[in-house]
Amino acid sequence: MKTATINGIELAYRDQGVGEAILFIHAFPLHGAMWDGQVAAFSPHHRVIAPDLRGLGASEAGGGAGSLDQHADDLAALLDHLAIEHATVAGLSMGGYISLALWRRHRQRIAALILADTRAGADSVEGKQGREQNAKLAETQGPGAIADLMLPKLLSPNAPAALRDQVRAMIESNDRAGIASALRAMAARPDSTPLLAAIDVPTLVLVGAEDALTPPSEAEAMFNAIPGCRLAEIPGAGHLSNLESPAAFNAQVLEFLTPRQMFGIGGGGGGKW
Ligand code: MLT
Repeated sequence: MKTATINGIELAYRDQGVGEAILFIHAFPLHGAMWDGQVAAFSPHHRVIAPDLRGLGASEAGGGAGSLDQHADDLAALLDHLAIEHATVAGLSMGGYISLALWRRHRQRIAALILADTRAGADSVEGKQGREQNAKLAETQGPGAIADLMLPKLLSPNAPAALRDQVRAMIESNDRAGIASALRAMAARPDSTPLLAAIDVPTLVLVGAEDALTPPSEAEAMFNAIPGCRLAEIPGAGHLSNLESPAAFNAQVLEFLTPRQMFGIGGGGGGKW
């Protein structure tokens, strides 16, 4: 793992391989290790960057209230630090919310977008209240209580016990304050739906068919709103589709990244498959 001083904090990140860059942005309440399978799969042909977002994993929190815009600014500054002008930005769930914040604030850095198991809309009033309750739960009872709450929603009922243990270990390695801060940052995020119609880079929307948190209907709504977008559903996978079905997830990403697929030769160029 590497670290760099980014916007006043030490940010930890994986940086492996050479070639066109892919920036993988992790979900809540995990950290960049959730992308280990993608780092291994894509680094033979790409430069793969997978940071721990500030306050999570091995990255410092810094002071003040966190925001998804702050994460987006950190990631743009990390790309500066790494001398990467453009990257394919792939975000899963909270990582997708941050990808849309990057689009809003640093659009010129994004060569292509992969929005996995995420949604464009903001939280409802009840959703925001639930986030605040969970932030207090994290602060008072620690990450184990958040793992108990989240695990049934993050993975499908059929997920193997070993994967459940792996995800629990990732959650429990996070700091309670970082988890609380991420919850409050998600609650404060704006509605990104109005951005979608103007997205003009190749975009892939991916979703686990069994995703209970951001179900396929959310993916379809983004697919319908983003011009020329592609949609892929991963059979049998829950919310953390890259962890539950890595082979299918990677195959969809690889197909999307292959230029002849992106530009319409051999069946590409938009549409659902
Ligand atoms: C995530 O997987 O990043 C979160 O569950 C998303 C959310 O809570 O909205």
